[in-house]
Amino acid sequence: MTTLQDELIASIRNIPDYPKPGIMFRDITTLLGNPRAFRRAVDELVHPYAGTGIAHVVGIEARGFILGGAMAHQLSSGFIPIRKKGKLPRETVRIAYSLEYGVDEMEVHKDALRPGEKVILVDDLIATGGTAVAAVKLLRQLGADIVAACFVIDLPELGGRAKLEELDVEVRTLVAYEGH
Ligand code: PRP
Ligand code: MG
Repeated sequence: MTTLQDELIASIRNIPDYPKPGIMFRDITTLLGNPRAFRRAVDELVHPYAGTGIAHVVGIEARGFILGGAMAHQLSSGFIPIRKKGKLPRETVRIAYSLEYGVDEMEVHKDALRPGEKVILVDDLIATGGTAVAAVKLLRQLGADIVAACFVIDLPELGGRAKLEELDVEVRTLVAYEGH
C-alpha cells in the first residue's frame, strides 16, 4: 500500500532550475489537480483539529488560499485571508517580511477575528520561514490563539520550522525535502 507521503511526493512536480538556476521548484499544481492527492492532503492537515473549536483557518496569499479554503470547509470554520499589501478594503494590520530578494508586506483586516479565537495558519510550503513568522506576528497582534501552522511541504534545511517552534507555534507538515 502506498503511504500518504509517497502519494503526495509522487503528485508534486519537481522543476529543476526554476525560478533560477540551482533551485528545484516544488510545484503543487499537480497535487491540487489530482483529486485523491488533494483530498488526502487536506484531510491529513485538518484531522487533529476536527471538533476542537477552530474558529478560522488563516491562509497566506496566494497558495495558502487554496488549501485554507478547503480546510475551513472541512472544519466548518471561517476563512481569513492574509493578503499582500494593498488588497484589503478596510482597516488592517500590516507587517514587512523578507524575501529572497528584498522585502514585501502582508496584511490582515483588524476585525477579522476576536482576541482569544482559535485559528490554524496554513501555507503550501515553509522554507526560510520569513513569510510564516510574519503571519504569526500579525495574528498575535490581533490576539489570535494560534493552535498550529500547517504546510504541505517543509524544506527543513532552510530553518523555517525551527523559527516557528521558537515562537511556540505547533508546526504540522506532510512531506519534507532535503536541500533547497
Ligand atoms: C512561497 C510559498 C510560501 C513562501 C515560503 O510563496 O508559497 O508562501 O514562499 O517561503 P519562506 O518560508 O522562505 O518565507 P511566494 O512568496 O513565492 O508567493 P505565492 O504563494 O504568492 O506564489
Ligand atoms: Mg506563498
